[in-house]
Amino acid sequence: MRKTALITGITGQDGSDLAKLLLGKGYRVCGAHRRSASTNLWRCDELGITQDIELFDFELLEFSNIVAVFQQVKPDEVYNLAAQSFVAASFDQPLYTAEVDAMGVARLLEAIRLVNPKIHFYQASTAELFGKVQSVPQTEDTVFWPRSPYGVAKLYAHWITRNYREAFDIHTSSGILFNHESPMRGLDFVTRKITAGFARISLGQQDCIELGNLDAQRDWGFAGDFVDGMWRMLQQPEGDEYILATGVVHSVRRFVELAAEAAAIPLAWEGEAEHTIGRDRRSGKVVVKVNPKFYRPAEIDLLVGDPAKARTRLGWEPTVQLPALVQMMVEADLRRAKDKRIQ
Ligand code: NAP
Ligand code: GDD
Repeated sequence: MRKTALITGITGQDGSDLAKLLLGKGYRVCGAHRRSASTNLWRCDELGITQDIELFDFELLEFSNIVAVFQQVKPDEVYNLAAQSFVAASFDQPLYTAEVDAMGVARLLEAIRLVNPKIHFYQASTAELFGKVQSVPQTEDTVFWPRSPYGVAKLYAHWITRNYREAFDIHTSSGILFNHESPMRGLDFVTRKITAGFARISLGQQDCIELGNLDAQRDWGFAGDFVDGMWRMLQQPEGDEYILATGVVHSVRRFVELAAEAAAIPLAWEGEAEHTIGRDRRSGKVVVKVNPKFYRPAEIDLLVGDPAKARTRLGWEPTVQLPALVQMMVEADLRRAKDKRIQ
């Protein structure tokens, strides 16, 4: 029988990518999105799937709204991808972040318990749980030490998801996902800020990209691979927790170099720490500079995951390496910048 999936955060990077994947598998896909003055469905539009999704007004802060949507949709699978997902913003809005990213998940699980405990539930956990990492690479057994209000809120969500599995026998899974990117990434996140920045610079629409900590290291994968891992988790006989990561780490500085190369901008670094600049060797113009306003009150220096469990149990493999990912993102942003429609 045709399965129904409810995806929260349908307007986000992962929500739109997952919707496309599930439509391709023959699912009825219902997308839960926040009501706003002008709902932004540009990602689903760009993927050509908006007409194929049933949309529902949905707010993680509203328990009765969640219950009503579950009753209407009658999902077999719920993918909770909605969150205040920007780590930097969580330092300015810690209470709101906790309401959405922590309590929002408790509301969803309670709604499942009330409406239909047979629903399979996916929670978007995160490598941010590891924060000040206690071992390298991080596995499902590595001790958590979150370093931001976002990470702390997601830690509650992670544990309450496990608790509903243990206490109420609900099929819940958490994907501890390391950073994953795509041309659909939001402009606030460092990768897309860089690729959109170089696309605009190469077309004369922007002078310079201002960044924070260039030495932070991340395990960046491709979002398309990661949404496939989410689906695989919910097809298992039991719920569980899995790391999805590439196992390969690069610095923000290296990401900048790869993106400059993809945009055909020859880059030369000068200076150190907050005085670092990147110059276009041809024009001599400064195209990258450090602005300490983008430093975080508590930084995570290194995240690198070991996806062995997902590989063995789910048959999951990351397929895209960083240089190809950067190329894909820069090319997409160059196309958009030519049409002046970067968003
Ligand atoms: P994203 O692009 O920021 O999307 C977040 C989505 O959540 C948006 O659709 C947003 O709606 C929605 N949302 C925010 N607050 C909401 C609320 N109160 N009620 C209902 N919807 C709300 O994030 P993403 O990169 O796709 O990530 C998806 C999930 O995975 C998030 O939970 C994130 O924390 C987690 N995660 C992401 C990564 C990564 O590298 N991408 C890694 C690990 C975990 P609006 O459009 O209205 O803002
Ligand atoms: N956003 C941003 N902007 N980050 C910068 C900048 C800048 O100008 N300059 C340097 N960085 C550094 C940040 O300090 C951080 O160390 C790194 O680049 C990555 O930042 P983000 O792209 O904002 O991602 P994140 O790692 O903080 O969080 C993302 O990944 C998590 C999983 O590890 C988000 O998608 C989270 O939602 C997700 O849970």
